[in-house]
Amino acid sequence: MIDRILGGIKVKINNRIATLGEYHFKKIDDEKNKILSEGKKIIDLGIGDPDLPVHPSILKELISALAIKNFNKYPPYDGVEKLKKQIIKYYSDVYSVKLDLDEVLVLIGSKEGISNIIPAVCNFGDGVIMTDPSYPVYETATKLWGAVTYKIPLKGKNSFLPELDYMLDGDILRSKLFIINYPNNPTGAVASENFYKDIIKFCSHNDIILCNDSAYNEIIEENKAPTSLLQYDIDKKNCIEFGTMSKTYNMTGFRIGYAVGNKDVIKALLTIKSNLDSGQFKPIQYAAIRALTLERSYINSIRHIYNDRRKSAEIILKNKNIEFFKTTGTFYVWCKVPNNYTTYEFCSEVLKKHQIVITPGYSFGNLGHQYFRIALTKDKVTIEEALNKFSRYK
Ligand SMILES: Cc1ncc(COP(=O)(O)O)c(C=O)c1O
Repeated sequence: MIDRILGGIKVKINNRIATLGEYHFKKIDDEKNKILSEGKKIIDLGIGDPDLPVHPSILKELISALAIKNFNKYPPYDGVEKLKKQIIKYYSDVYSVKLDLDEVLVLIGSKEGISNIIPAVCNFGDGVIMTDPSYPVYETATKLWGAVTYKIPLKGKNSFLPELDYMLDGDILRSKLFIINYPNNPTGAVASENFYKDIIKFCSHNDIILCNDSAYNEIIEENKAPTSLLQYDIDKKNCIEFGTMSKTYNMTGFRIGYAVGNKDVIKALLTIKSNLDSGQFKPIQYAAIRALTLERSYINSIRHIYNDRRKSAEIILKNKNIEFFKTTGTFYVWCKVPNNYTTYEFCSEVLKKHQIVITPGYSFGNLGHQYFRIALTKDKVTIEEALNKFSRYK
């Protein structure tokens, strides 16, 4: 792809960039910026960036870690050992999953791992299975690294879990990697024990590496035990899981996450990582250790806040005759666009008429065209104020 000719020189850009299309949120972003430039106030229920504060003890640890020896030096590629041990303890305490140090890798946010898992596992042209709808990074990373995407539909009638029978075709079965994401963005769906067991069996039968992006592992119903894919693949034969401090601990800007699971895959991921970047700033890794040692009651209090917001949102949506998927996973509500609208028309109208940002479903794939996503990342009063402005639909 020739981007442009400058002073007689052709500026040639990776032609796979052209396959990515326009940045998913751009159209709505442009409209939002126009409204903001007119001096109007906007309620943004678009982005999944928690509004809640960082626990003071995490901030305290971040600051005091500036005093550790060599805090400013290159951190170890695979992560500070103390943090790796804390992640191991978390998996043992919460999931009863035993991990060794070489089965853990610290990441600069889980998004880093999601991108690097593609070249760690795939050659050019290899297949990566993902769902439609899904977090857009799976598709963009797959395309950028020269692999091929295969999409499995997520349907409301199956509680937004993929149907494994869908994959009878030979090409799909030759894929190297299957990325799932439960609790699920954007639908909020939570996977059952049977689903995990079936998909692990399916992937091991077909020599496919199964990767669960568990960014929202702790954002579920109060007092419920969270689940990990690794609970059902005790020998870590073909599974890996990503986790992050971003959502549970309101640490999106810290950029800290991890990968755990099959040690060959972790090693390959580390090879990519160590060749392309370095470890996260050490004080941030210490802050993450502190986060993982917070009481379970803290996590329950976070769940309580989102569940409370969800209940209020559901009451108003019902009132407005807007259908939504009833769930307790993540901090998103996946709603059906009212009749006679496309998702873009609807989100654009809500933005222009009421100055509320919601995310059009197509941002997550073609099967999102009849949906829109609400992020419960504002306080309850603001969410209620926003949703009460919606019209009542027939
Ligand atoms: C499903 C999913 N995975 C991963 C991420 C990225 O998280 P991190 O901040 O750890 O990169 C997000 C962020 O929105 C997400 O929704």
